[in-house]
Amino acid sequence: MIRRKGQIFRLETPHTTLVIKADTAEYLYYGKKLVSSGDFEACYGLPCKLLSQFGQDDYTEPSILLENADGGCSTAFHFSRCKILAEKPEIPGLPSSYGAGKTLELKYVDVPTKVALYIYYTVFDDSDVIAVSSKLVNASKKELRVRRLASLQLDLLGDYSVVTFEGTWARERQKISRTINKGVFYNDSKKGASSHNRNPFVMAEGKDGVYAFNLVYSGNHKEIFEGCESGRMRVLTGINDFMFRWTLAPGEQFDAPEAVMCYAPDEDGISSEMHAFIGEHIVRGKWKKRERPVLVNNWEGTYFDFDEEKILSIARAAKKTGVELFVLDDGWFGNRCDDHRALGDWYDNVEKTGGGLKHLADKIREIGLDFGIWVEPEMINEDSDLFRTHPNFAMRVPGREPTRMRWQLCLNLADEKVQNYVVRVISDVIARSGASYVKWDYNRALTDPFGKGIPQGEYFHRYILGYYSIVSRITKKFPFVLFEGCAGGGGRFDLGNLCFFQQYWTSDDTDARERLKIQDGTSYGYPQTTMGAHVSACPNHQTGDSNPLETRFNIACGGVLGYELDMTKLSDEEMDVVSRQIEFYKEYRKVLQFGDFYRLGNAFGENVAGFMSVSKDKSTAIAVVTVYDYIIAGPALTVKFKGLNPSAVYEVTTREQANYKNVLSFTAGGDLLMQGNISLRDIYEDTQSWTNSKRLYARMFIFKKVK
Ligand code: DGJ
Repeated sequence: MIRRKGQIFRLETPHTTLVIKADTAEYLYYGKKLVSSGDFEACYGLPCKLLSQFGQDDYTEPSILLENADGGCSTAFHFSRCKILAEKPEIPGLPSSYGAGKTLELKYVDVPTKVALYIYYTVFDDSDVIAVSSKLVNASKKELRVRRLASLQLDLLGDYSVVTFEGTWARERQKISRTINKGVFYNDSKKGASSHNRNPFVMAEGKDGVYAFNLVYSGNHKEIFEGCESGRMRVLTGINDFMFRWTLAPGEQFDAPEAVMCYAPDEDGISSEMHAFIGEHIVRGKWKKRERPVLVNNWEGTYFDFDEEKILSIARAAKKTGVELFVLDDGWFGNRCDDHRALGDWYDNVEKTGGGLKHLADKIREIGLDFGIWVEPEMINEDSDLFRTHPNFAMRVPGREPTRMRWQLCLNLADEKVQNYVVRVISDVIARSGASYVKWDYNRALTDPFGKGIPQGEYFHRYILGYYSIVSRITKKFPFVLFEGCAGGGGRFDLGNLCFFQQYWTSDDTDARERLKIQDGTSYGYPQTTMGAHVSACPNHQTGDSNPLETRFNIACGGVLGYELDMTKLSDEEMDVVSRQIEFYKEYRKVLQFGDFYRLGNAFGENVAGFMSVSKDKSTAIAVVTVYDYIIAGPALTVKFKGLNPSAVYEVTTREQANYKNVLSFTAGGDLLMQGNISLRDIYEDTQSWTNSKRLYARMFIFKKVK
């Protein structure tokens, strides 16, 4: 809801209030919901601005930086008008949240040039997340250049720790908290993708609560935090201004991607708001609220070395265990016998598929599994028919050797011809295989951003606009298909992608111990329904470490469950364990995938960690509690559960796990389970722990409300 009194706008969400003074471009208040109806004019402290520019008396990082036709960079944007829109405006060419309540539109004009800046704030009736975006319109008669246009500026007063989610391939989104005091800190990506290294989801934590920010964008991003002498901290988020310089001709407009922000008293509150918002206002399509199938993916089971019989034998074994979907990963097309060749040749390798994709997909469906397919549409190998016929489709800088990563180049998606080509060939793959699931991979960063006729400062963003045009056309064409994004694991796990792909492959690292941290870090900003999580073989292919099959399953239940191993190699006993796991998972799938998600303990720094998913009515919950290390005669191990109904009584049992002889069972009140210290002394009784290196102890608890 948005209420107006003169130039003061009060934006109300279920638990927060944001007060904006339009004419002075100021935030008067943002935080816990205000219930009184006091007079805000009295509320002046240090001004907290929603816009900042070079050339005014403000020397902190600006939200907007333009290069005027005369080469000067000073601007003087002043208030022009404001209004409340009943509909949330779409952002041309860019994905954004949907299903909104009302939007506040603010307009500021740089009087000498007549360039207009619009800032939009959207509130949702059912969410504390506020969406913010900016747009520039060149109403002057001269060309100008945009050097920075932040999507969102928020000035905060006081001391804050900045929390980011950083890492690398196979170690994505590790939580890092730092105090910046006075000075500038930024979290960014220059890789052309949101990146494994620094996710655009960030938080500022202070004594009065937590502010969280994210960007609905999949390319280069930058989040700036500047602590000033005055005691103010400026937060900016938007497209990275690194190598960015956008020409805006008279009459043209430039749209910055949408940013989202949220206030909550603590981290759990932030996650719960972000999860609900993403589930309701970002993820879309037929799969938005549908339970996701248990899949088997052949990648780690076969890599490139497969034929029809191998694939069908895995599918038959998987079917016996209750798996519902078979995903044929990399290697089914062209001459793709390894990762040196054939990217771009999206026609069937008849030998490896035993007669073509449709033939193999039909055989899988005859076994009783749905069929899913892997593609990497944005890439090309030089050793491919596509490169031989269309070398100009590849992105490279003329006269220079391109940087090859995984022996592949990127396609020049900034070119419309290339976009149309990709839409055509990938649509054909989906149509001819009848796939009900598509894994869209992206396995390298952009190092040679170049396209004929495209100014260098526009390339990165034009690539992403091209990418969005492709994925939006393809996902619209196949509304019944479940899409899972992937970027060498979780290298492009962001809200832009989640507007098209209902889920994302979280990481190439499937080691239970490492995965616990990766999923834990991811869960701060993203719900469990968006996180692909697989049980793989041991010793683990990334770390060489081993963990019991039950432990691997427990951890994979923190996301959307899949198996990624050659199931024909499982012993009868293991097949039995997997069958029981899948039976259990299907029984509790709704709670696990769509319940309210909580982190337990602390995966980054304490011995006890885990997660918990609670049904909306709080009658059922599943928790996975983990202990990293066996400390001889160490401190008592305890956990506090979360999200239960404090006044209800629960029957608590542990899942029957092949690696624990005993099953725990007791009844306890919700309040005790959440406020007390529940002992985990039995967790070291894992009968398989000694045969496994770097083991993680993990038990699953089931809660059923009995009173
Ligand atoms: C990287 C992905 O993350 C893997 O799961 C797999 O699909 C490979 N690419 C295939 O090349």
